[in-house]
Amino acid sequence: MKKLLMICGGQSSEHIISRMSCTSVLQNIHNDLYEITLVGIDKDGVWYLLKQNQDDLTKETWLDGSQKVDDIYGLLKQQDVVFPVLHGLYGEDGTVQGLLELANVPYVGCRVLASSVSMDKVYTKKILDTVGIPQVKSLYVKKKYDGQLVIIDSEFNEVTDIITTVKTQLGLPCFIKASRSGSSVGCYRCDTEGDLMNILNEASKYDRHIVVEECIDCIELETAVLGNDNPIVSRVGQIMPHGEFYTFESKYEDEESKTCIPALVDEKIQEEIRDYALKVFKAVDGHGLSRVDFFLDKKTNKVYLNEINTMPGFTKISMYPQLIADLGISYSDLIDQLIELAFDK
Ligand SMILES: Nc1ncnc2c1ncn2[C@@H]1O[C@H](COP(=O)(O)OP(=O)(O)O)[C@@H](O)[C@H]1O
Ligand SMILES: [Mg+2]
Repeated sequence: MKKLLMICGGQSSEHIISRMSCTSVLQNIHNDLYEITLVGIDKDGVWYLLKQNQDDLTKETWLDGSQKVDDIYGLLKQQDVVFPVLHGLYGEDGTVQGLLELANVPYVGCRVLASSVSMDKVYTKKILDTVGIPQVKSLYVKKKYDGQLVIIDSEFNEVTDIITTVKTQLGLPCFIKASRSGSSVGCYRCDTEGDLMNILNEASKYDRHIVVEECIDCIELETAVLGNDNPIVSRVGQIMPHGEFYTFESKYEDEESKTCIPALVDEKIQEEIRDYALKVFKAVDGHGLSRVDFFLDKKTNKVYLNEINTMPGFTKISMYPQLIADLGISYSDLIDQLIELAFDK
């Protein structure tokens, strides 16, 4: 039996999603193969050894009977492998991965570089531009330490006239997103010039890096990548968000938001997307798994990369395990494979 440490919760806006994901993993894992230790990180970043045999980590009582972890490093050193089921900042962004590297313990998922690049929408775009992955037109807005917002151009010069630049280069409506965020937190659609600065200021509460993108009337398509040096890619799944766009509520609370595998789009386009997904995974030096998301422009039929998620949602309704199941790999076998992949150094 392998000693497996599972970590959930965390300090990001996706804290509760992580607890949902971890609950699903626990419900599906081959219990006879692992000696599981469960750690929960609360929103302040405190680590707790959780009571075992919890059937639902989303309950408010999840920390009852738990024990604060004082020696995190010591705890990590005792494990054969770690599965950080964490989404967003301080979990999916390379920070926890750095800690696991320092402790020299095998862990599930992408390494430091792939995690941090993929978490940051601004830097994902910069890297993937170099390998010719199509992306929507965008601008990088940065909040300086004195609070001033500036556009950072491709040569890292500062441009102060934000409104004119957005209007001429992207047009309105546009999308404004905190760069290192997920689950649509800090993500807004901006329809009017009058709203632009307010929304940028709002987004800047979540992150100093902000992405402004042209708005695409699109179909949202997702793929699952699994592996290390020779990754496999799933078929393409389609998101059918209910509401204006795929917001936090439509992702997790709206029963009307549906998914469909395979996507209801031309097979040639699906093949194109699957090729891009593998290229994206390789370009960021992915490891283990990633969900790679795309937009298909309804007017032009052009495909664009949206983003790469290195620790995608793992709840029972999440796209990643569904796409892998479509390949004939059950949720339980997927967990085994991910843990096996963790040991490639
Ligand atoms: N440029 C865009 N044009 C149209 N819709 C967008 C655009 N960018 C984001 N969206 C909508 O917002 C959602 C969240 O954006 P995304 O970049 O995926 O952020 P997150 O990391 O929070 O998931 C998308 O799933 C999509 O519905
Ligand atoms: Mg997304």
